Amino acid sequence: MGEASSLRAATLDDAELLLAWRNDDATRRSSRSQEPLEYDAHLAWLSDAIRDPRRLLRVVVADGSPVASVRFDLLPDRDDSAEVSIVVAPAARGQGYGGVALAAGHLLVGETWPAVREVLAVVHQGNEPSRRLFEQAGYVLLAGPDEDGWLSCLRSLSAADV
Ligand SMILES: CC(C)(COP(=O)(O)OP(=O)(O)OC[C@H]1O[C@@H](n2cnc3c(N)ncnc32)[C@H](O)[C@@H]1OP(=O)(O)O)[C@@H](O)C(=O)NCCC(=O)NCCS
Repeated sequence: MGEASSLRAATLDDAELLLAWRNDDATRRSSRSQEPLEYDAHLAWLSDAIRDPRRLLRVVVADGSPVASVRFDLLPDRDDSAEVSIVVAPAARGQGYGGVALAAGHLLVGETWPAVREVLAVVHQGNEPSRRLFEQAGYVLLAGPDEDGWLSCLRSLSAADV
């Protein structure tokens, strides 16, 4: 990650920002649940998420401004695999912050959960920026597309990530 970029833990003060990014049209099209979220439901979700030991939710800050969020969830009943989800702020897309968030996120996962050996990304086949982002970050197709067009992509965490 460049010197001007860093990850910080998300807090309740990020609720409005994260909700706006989450409810953006392109983000909803890229999500498995596409309905706009209401503020109260989002706040309850965020409050749980930032305390959940099986979840890492971070904000990417570049030159002092929040530009993306990245989240890793340990898979249910598994401590060796996590699923990643990324949202870049609408105004900051197409500038490489997705890759910055992933690279920093892989390091964080390695430090926080040493047992995690692989990271899963579920990407819609029509989401070209997302497909390219994960491919360039070393993810390979594991399965799909399913009947709704979702691809499961996997990346091993290597020694270079810790
Ligand atoms: C998908 C997303 C995370 C990508 O992050 P980003 O920082 O905007 O992407 P980058 O700038 O790193 O670009 C990634 C690749 O997609 C390409 N790309 C960017 N915008 C594109 C577009 N509109 N159409 C096609 N390709 C595009 C870039 O050129 C780059 O590929 P390249 O390096 O081969 O040129 C971001 O656009 C986003 O938050 N979208 C909405 C939410 C989402 O789709 N999340 C992913 C679901 S897990």
